[in-house]
Amino acid sequence: MRLAATTRRFSTITVVGAGLMGSGIAQVAAQNGHDVNLVDQTDELLQGADRRIRSSLERVAKKTFPDDVTKAKDFLEKSTSRLNYSTNALSAAAQSNLVIEAIVENMETKQKLFQDLDSAAPKHTVFASNTSSLSISRIASATQRKDRFGGLHFFNPVPVMKLVEVVRTAETSQETFDYLTEFGKSVGKKPVSCRDTPGFIVNRLLVPYLMEAIRMLERGMHVIALEIEIYTLSFIIGDATAEDIDTAMKLGAGHPMGPIQLLDYVGLDTTKFIMDGWHDLVPDEALFQPSDLLNKLVAEGKLGNKTGQGFYKH
Ligand code: 3HC
Repeated sequence: MRLAATTRRFSTITVVGAGLMGSGIAQVAAQNGHDVNLVDQTDELLQGADRRIRSSLERVAKKTFPDDVTKAKDFLEKSTSRLNYSTNALSAAAQSNLVIEAIVENMETKQKLFQDLDSAAPKHTVFASNTSSLSISRIASATQRKDRFGGLHFFNPVPVMKLVEVVRTAETSQETFDYLTEFGKSVGKKPVSCRDTPGFIVNRLLVPYLMEAIRMLERGMHVIALEIEIYTLSFIIGDATAEDIDTAMKLGAGHPMGPIQLLDYVGLDTTKFIMDGWHDLVPDEALFQPSDLLNKLVAEGKLGNKTGQGFYKH
C-alpha cells in the first residue's frame, strides 16, 4: 500500500526496548526533533534508560555547544521534552508512523511483539527491527505489512556511531525503503543499503574478525589450562596477549578499539548469540565455528563492560 503523505514527516516514533540500543535510537531521534515514545516492560527499565539518555545528551550538548551554556541547556531541555516513556507498546504504536524494535534477540519474542503491534498500529505505520543478526523477512512474516517492514540497524554507541544499515527484504516496498533511509538521515546517520542477509554488511565482516581475535588468544592456551585447571586471562597468552592484539589493531590498523576491547564493549553474550545462530545456519563455515573460551566466559556471566568482567576487568 502507498504510505500517506503525512508519514513522510515521521511525526511520532515509537522505539520498543529501552536497553543500550533502544535508548540510543530514541535519544538521537529526540535530539534531532522527533517526538519519541520509548517503551519497555517496567518503570525501572525506563528510569535506567532516562538516566542513560540524560547523561549522553549532556556529553553531546557539551561537545556541540562548548562555549554556550544557554544553547546547551536549551538543547537538553528540548531533547528531553520530546521523549515520552511508556510501558504500553500497543497504545504507543497506535499513535506512531514509525515503530522501531530493539528488544531481546529472540525470533519468537520479536514475532509475537510485531504480531501484536500489527493489530494496534495504523495501516500506514512502518515497522523496523534493529536486529543485528536475525532475518528481517522472518520477523516480518508475523505481520500483514511485509511491504512496510525493513531493518534499521544502528551501532553502539548510537549517539556517536555515524552509520545506519537500512535493510530491505524481497517484500520491502521502495517507498518503505526510501522512508527508512530518510529517517536514518534525519537522525544524523549515513544510511547504507543492505539485503536481508546474515549480519548485513558490518556484522558479517566484524563478527568473524572478532572471533578470529579470540581464536588467536585460544591457540596454545589449552595447554596452560590443563596444567593449572582454571584459566584466568592473565594466563591466556595464545599467539599473542589480549593487550598486544588490541594495541596491534589500534596502532597498526587505526581502529579506535582493539578486537578484544570491542568484544567486551559489545557484550560477549551478543557475539556468542550471533555466532551460534550463524553456525546453526552454515555448520561447515570455518569462520562461524564456536569458541570454547567465549562459551566459558559467557557461562560464567563474564559478559564484558556491562558485568564488570569479560576478557578484561572493568
Ligand atoms: N553518548 C554521547 N557521546 C559519547 C558517548 C555516548 N554514549 N560515548 C562516547 N561519546 C563521545 C565522548 O563524549 C567523546 O567526545 P569528545 O571527542 O568530544 O570528547 C567521544 O565520543 C569519544 O569518547 P571517549 O573519549 O569517552 O572514548 P573514546 O575516544 O575511546 O571513544 C568510542 C569511545 C566512540 C566508543 C570509540 O572507542 C569507538 O568508536 N569504538 C568502536 C565502537 C564500535 O566499533 N562500535 C560498533 C560495535 S558493533 C555494533 O554495535 C553492532 C551490533 O549489532 C553488535
